[in-house]
Amino acid sequence: MSLFVFSIIASLLLISVVKTEESQYEIDPNGYITFCLCMGRLGNQVEHFLGGLAFAKLLNRTLIVPPLRTNKNVPYSEWFQIESLRAYHRVIDAQDFMQELAPHVWPPESRIGFCWLPNNKPKSECKMKEGNPFGPFWNELHIDFVDTVAHNLNYDSNSIDQWNKLYSSDRYPVIALKGAPAPFPMKAQYRYLQKYMNWSNTIINEVQQYQQNLFNNTPYIGIHLRNDNDWEKACADVESYKSRSYMASPQCLDLPSSTHTYVTHKICYPSDNDILRLLKNIILRTRIHNIYVATDKRPMIKEIQEYLSAQRVHVKHLDPWLPIIDVAMLAHANYFIGNCVSSFTSFVKRARDVQNLPTAFWGFSN
Ligand SMILES: *[C@@H]1O[C@H](CO)[C@@H](O)[C@H](O)[C@H]1NC(C)=O
Ligand SMILES: *[C@@H]1O[C@H](CO)[C@@H](O)[C@H](O)[C@H]1NC(C)=O
Repeated sequence: MSLFVFSIIASLLLISVVKTEESQYEIDPNGYITFCLCMGRLGNQVEHFLGGLAFAKLLNRTLIVPPLRTNKNVPYSEWFQIESLRAYHRVIDAQDFMQELAPHVWPPESRIGFCWLPNNKPKSECKMKEGNPFGPFWNELHIDFVDTVAHNLNYDSNSIDQWNKLYSSDRYPVIALKGAPAPFPMKAQYRYLQKYMNWSNTIINEVQQYQQNLFNNTPYIGIHLRNDNDWEKACADVESYKSRSYMASPQCLDLPSSTHTYVTHKICYPSDNDILRLLKNIILRTRIHNIYVATDKRPMIKEIQEYLSAQRVHVKHLDPWLPIIDVAMLAHANYFIGNCVSSFTSFVKRARDVQNLPTAFWGFSN
């Protein structure tokens, strides 16, 4: 083969590779939507993410998948697979969007931020980057806004026509919202979307290593103890609210089998005794003697070991720097007991429901 022919073939190959890469990121004529997961910690962020994912589909815009927030942005793909979201809706990772598509569809001089504001508020009150985590979130994606829009629309199926009329994808190729287009706690109808949040290989590998190292790959019961001071305060007067929907509480109160009409103090902040008794019941029932404790404060290891000394339990507490490790360990446990009011628990419960794994709640009888 002459050098000439060879170089033609080589350049043809090159072109087709470039083409393939481009076509992976075809521009969506219907536009894009993204938002900051700027409220709360992991549990709240994931509820907002799922609601936002559902809204992106209603609006039929590609979701630019936002990073999660710890003390910095964590690309979604570090913890979950972007690919598995595609079975539900069109998505692109935020970093990929900024690198590959933003220069074409959302150049710096066209970047407009959207805030929901009450009707009488001027758009000057839409401050996309004021405060933490708002500023760092957009900065780490290298996004500045040249203008803002104050909108007053809802984030539901009845508002889609208005959204399209006011904010067409021609004029607004990217709707970048200051906060998630979704309520907290999330709408029950979207809980099932958890099934599209498959874990990344990195997380799965870590879980498998811990399961091996801590429990020698034998079954374990995961428990979540939400008992930091902020929680004690949040629960102190909960019975006076007579509320069904206090933070994540619909996850247990809305169960068909629930006999509770509102959140009790026992459900919100169970006593040590309540915790030990339920744990013992479940150990006797399941004959599982390994316990994995996740907590924001007090793991109760000594108390559990003493109370259950006859059962010869093995109690492990990793206290990982990243809470996602606790969520993943609890999501894969053979049995789980969580706090019904906590959105950290609700994240675990949804992930378990997808796999048909059992969950119980402290202080909750059904
Ligand atoms: C949604 O957007 C996609 C991609 O832009 C388009 O092909 C499709 O026709 C749209 N669906 C509806 C119902 O408008
Ligand atoms: C994601 O997980 C679900 C069940 O949890 C499974 O059915 C599905 O095949 C997974 N998807 C991918 C892309 O791995």
